[in-house]
Amino acid sequence: MPTLVIAGSQWGDEGKGKIVHFLGNRADVVVRYQGGPNAGHTIILGDKPFVLHTLPSGIVLPGKICVISNGVVIDPEILRSEVCALNIPVKNRLLISESAHIILPYHRQMDERRERSKIRLGTTLRGIGPAYADKVVRIGVRVVDFLSPATFRKLLDINVREKKAWGQKRDILKKYQQWRRFLYPFAADTVLFLNRAIARGKKIIFESAQGTLLDLDFGTYPYVTSSNPVSGGVCTGAGVPPTAIDYILGVMKAYTTRVGDGPFPTEIRGSLAAQLREAGMEYGATTGRPRRCGWIDIVSIKHSIMVNGFNSLALTKLDCLQGIHPLKICVAYVHKGKRITRFPASREVISECKPVYIELPGFNKPLCITRGRSIMPRNANLYVKTLEKLLGIKISLLSSGRTREETFVLDKRVLNFGKYPA
Ligand code: IMO
Ligand code: MG
Repeated sequence: MPTLVIAGSQWGDEGKGKIVHFLGNRADVVVRYQGGPNAGHTIILGDKPFVLHTLPSGIVLPGKICVISNGVVIDPEILRSEVCALNIPVKNRLLISESAHIILPYHRQMDERRERSKIRLGTTLRGIGPAYADKVVRIGVRVVDFLSPATFRKLLDINVREKKAWGQKRDILKKYQQWRRFLYPFAADTVLFLNRAIARGKKIIFESAQGTLLDLDFGTYPYVTSSNPVSGGVCTGAGVPPTAIDYILGVMKAYTTRVGDGPFPTEIRGSLAAQLREAGMEYGATTGRPRRCGWIDIVSIKHSIMVNGFNSLALTKLDCLQGIHPLKICVAYVHKGKRITRFPASREVISECKPVYIELPGFNKPLCITRGRSIMPRNANLYVKTLEKLLGIKISLLSSGRTREETFVLDKRVLNFGKYPA
């Protein structure tokens, strides 16, 4: 039953899509377990970038079964255009949970309205928060409800009345049959499917969207998303018991980025931020917004390691640090003169925290990692070793560039999801 969870350790955009693409060949099934079209996973195929929003990254690998499980919120319009744009057959290899919730146009409108008010968070405006809110208050529309015209009409009435969105009803009903026809062939009992696949020894990758610091419970609340990207989210988001999870891989970028509002203790401003943004092409894959850039932050990643139980880390985008001197690593925060190493829950405390840095020499030579650590510039190696030491965890995959070929395996156990010798 080898199962592997791949989760983000920072504020999203760590390169999860590329890592899933790299390891996906070894899996039979790839599952998206939370989030919705707020995600933007960029995958390079040949020399063409594909940006996936709701589909699991495994969809670009021929023959892999892909599952969108119950923890995901689905915008039928966005998913339909995503499937069409992909131009890769998905028939018989895409399963969508009957219990996943549907995002409807009124959710986007509510998201937009809230973003224009004083409680702005810098969301992706995809209606994610309002759709999850409806799930929690129990007036949401699940895929199975959506597919039943009578149930859907009833729920739509209740929702447009409650949200004072009567104006949207006609438009929604106009598109309804088209959306329904599109979703119908994919709807399935994915909980049963996944648990049977596990019992039959199939290899399964669970791919998170967003990252731990955007987690509704463990992130920088309220500047978070409305789901649980942490590894534990797999259990509630896919119906897979904790005992069935074999290996948890954290994805960590060599520096930090954040899109949207909220505290970011190691944020860099000015020309160095611009340099990193250009080197890493740090523009939102979903919204096109320039990402805020900063140094790597050991305090927050240690928090991620703790709540996810990562077995090892995949380090991405180390190449983007080429030519930067010195390289800084945040090892603690100072708050009101006191040094802290615990990731604070208080929004005031974290926004007042000042980072404590150690400095390492940078590297100028390009990073050719395809032949491993031995031919890497010495200071790049030092950076990797220092991170491992400070975090107390192994880096099992090193990734640079954008293609899956530019990935080097440092610990082969990850290739077999920690189960068997590679
Ligand atoms: P991937 O999967 C980075 C951020 C938004 C905002 C906050 C809440 O590509 O790593 P939401 O629309 O979810 O209500 O917005 O979460 N956010 C992301 N940031 N990468 C993502 O996904 C994100 N998905 C949401 O910018 O700060
Ligand atoms: Mg993204």
